[in-house]
Amino acid sequence: MKILGIETSCDETAAAVVEDGRKILSNVVVSQIDIFAEYGGVIPEVAARSHLEAMMPVVNKALSDANCTWDDIDAIAVTHAPGLLGSLLIGTLTARTLAILHNKPLYATHHLKSHVYANWLSDETPPQFPLLALVVSGGHTQILYMKAHNQFEIIGTTHDDAIGECFDKVAKILGLPYPGGPAISKAAESGDKSKYKFPHPRVDGLDFSFSGLKTAVLRTVQKELGLPISHPSHDLKNHLNEKQVADFAASFQKTAVDILVEKLQIALDEHPDIQSVVVAGGVSANKALRAALPEAYFPEPKFSGDNGAMVAAAAYYEIQSGVDPTDPYKLNIYPRISIEN
Ligand code: KG4
Ligand code: ZN
Repeated sequence: MKILGIETSCDETAAAVVEDGRKILSNVVVSQIDIFAEYGGVIPEVAARSHLEAMMPVVNKALSDANCTWDDIDAIAVTHAPGLLGSLLIGTLTARTLAILHNKPLYATHHLKSHVYANWLSDETPPQFPLLALVVSGGHTQILYMKAHNQFEIIGTTHDDAIGECFDKVAKILGLPYPGGPAISKAAESGDKSKYKFPHPRVDGLDFSFSGLKTAVLRTVQKELGLPISHPSHDLKNHLNEKQVADFAASFQKTAVDILVEKLQIALDEHPDIQSVVVAGGVSANKALRAALPEAYFPEPKFSGDNGAMVAAAAYYEIQSGVDPTDPYKLNIYPRISIEN
């Protein structure tokens, strides 16, 4: 079964054709990073406009790279939640129109589900159930328990910032470019990860909190530079040298990874039936996190970030679980909705 997957929830316009949930026939991603690097973050209206321009060329390239015509496509899948409203609108309107025009069944998928299913996009032995999924993206940090395909139970979540958001905010303090995750990871390579100590948040159970870690980095930078806490955070970068930036990046990254691993270990202790651990979302590209969890499944780095292939994979396993297609005339978007809905 060949599914065309469409993803536009944030700042990547993406489409891919995937066969039977695992075999990638094409994968096209047009990133808006260059536009937003200049602003230091995503501007929703600009993102939506860029999706509009890129959408159809991306879909057409996904079809031609896969050597497919519309006759070869069995279904269309699209991200309808969560994400930026304008961005989700462009992807879903495109998918709805194409489904009507070409008379294809349409499946609407949750973005975090798709990130989890990026772990099925390979020839390796697939993850086994029951499993734990550590979702680490720009907007979410969650531990999910999956008893079987398409069954998600949230057993841990963040009380405030997401881990990716924390990487991005710390990068900003250190004067590193957007998106902050890859920039911190790179700067950390030449840094001393034991130079600065940051406390782990005290959050009960399997939940997370990352806003305190960001503030701890901010205060430590101010202290290191001998500046008062009233000193504006956007100016600190002008006082930091390269060695300090590298040491802060490495020390922060170590703390962030340690927090994730610590919570995952508690989750594993509480769920002795677990057969596999999968890591999902943009932060799963992080090399230090990969090194800290050698036995976990990680997506191929190109499928860690947003892409259409994971959307097609998620829809395939929804179909296998008996989910019915959605009405293209009625499909709605949900900028904030839980994976459990
Ligand atoms: O999953 P994603 O592409 O978009 C959302 O669904 O949110 O995640 C984006 C996040 C950003 O915060 C970005 O800084 C982070 O993933 N990220 C990384 C790395 N690559 C991307 N964080 C840490 N290390 C990386 N190598
Ligand atoms: Zn994402």
